[in-house]
Amino acid sequence: SDYNTNKRHRSSDESQQRLPETLSAHRQLYERNFPLYKQPVEVGFFSLDSRRSFFNDQRQLRYYVQPRKSPDFNLRDGYTSRFVKRDDSVKEKLDHLLQWILANRDKIQTRDQTPSSSALGVDFVTWRGHLTKVLTTPYETQEGWMLAASKFRGTIYISEVETDAARENRETRSERQEEMMYWGYKFEQYMCADNVDGTPDPGGVVNTNEAFCTVVQTRLADHKLLFSGEVDCRVKDPDAPPAPGCYVELKTSAEICTPKQQSNFHRYKLLKWWAQSFLPGVPQIVAGFRDHDGIVVSVETFQTSKISQLIKNEYNCWKPTVCMNFCSDFLSFIKSVVKEDDPRLVYLFRWDPHRDVTYTVHRDSPFTILPDWYIKDMKS
Ligand code: A3P
Ligand code: MG
Ligand code: MG
Repeated sequence: SDYNTNKRHRSSDESQQRLPETLSAHRQLYERNFPLYKQPVEVGFFSLDSRRSFFNDQRQLRYYVQPRKSPDFNLRDGYTSRFVKRDDSVKEKLDHLLQWILANRDKIQTRDQTPSSSALGVDFVTWRGHLTKVLTTPYETQEGWMLAASKFRGTIYISEVETDAARENRETRSERQEEMMYWGYKFEQYMCADNVDGTPDPGGVVNTNEAFCTVVQTRLADHKLLFSGEVDCRVKDPDAPPAPGCYVELKTSAEICTPKQQSNFHRYKLLKWWAQSFLPGVPQIVAGFRDHDGIVVSVETFQTSKISQLIKNEYNCWKPTVCMNFCSDFLSFIKSVVKEDDPRLVYLFRWDPHRDVTYTVHRDSPFTILPDWYIKDMKS
């Protein structure tokens, strides 16, 4: 059964046994004590400009500006006239994060390692967004995922591969869906200033190529992680806690008018919001609730650490411990499968709703994660 597969996978003398071929995502299997999750530490950051070029600095970091009591944000404004959309058919894989690693190898904190060691000293390198998908897997019923993994010098790199279903969705989005994807970025423009002493400029262009990304190190159970995620803005106060404690995540959501909508917001949206911000240690989420026409009707702040209390009255609701234990076990599963240290080998992990996680192995395939420029530079 799934339970036995999972149990065998966690047993201590598994080297004597057959490797587990699958991993169950049944939430009941992960209801145990919250695993160790160390406070994430920012080890660096980088910026992507309006042309998606990499800069090893914080030029794209923006500052949170508290809105007036009743803001008059129209999220539809500028969609047809002042919007430059990132080309999401271009698959960047881990490239920008790898660029950051090459430029900052000395900044990655490695304990129990000689300074001259060639290894990075972390078990996994990935994007925060990929881990968010792993965290929410035990509760996901709509969308599956594929995650490619390769081991190079002792570190496993994990990069998402777009599923056929996700590609189909991306290529057949309705005009309404396309416009609503803009609304989240427009909200950011209303809420952020480019400079610490500045004010938002709602008349400017929204360019979704631009990004500021934090790079954090942490540990989940016995997994040493290095990952990066986009950060929307930081608070202006120079005496605020150091990053990531000063960062603010911005979100939009449909206004809540009925108990059913309130319940759905708790059950589905807050799960995703919590997972995304908890992982990198972003302490607050500022949400703009908007009506059907894209007018923001209220702005509310959520403390990431209080979200789990907020949802506790919801019947049969999601639990942070299930998310984190599943992630920890999935990373253990990857470690047990990805044994060969060879960046030309890709282990492709796949999960579909109501199924177990499975994997296939590929050599020199289009799924390859690590580019030659990275491998060459790491060896020099
Ligand atoms: P909302 O979060 O307000 O929906 P993020 O919140 O992660 O900073 O992302 C900023 C915006 O990008 C989102 O705003 C949304 O508009 C868009 N976006 C991000 N991920 C998306 C996805 N998977 N599908 C559609 N839009 C997405
Ligand atoms: Mg963002
Ligand atoms: Mg956001």
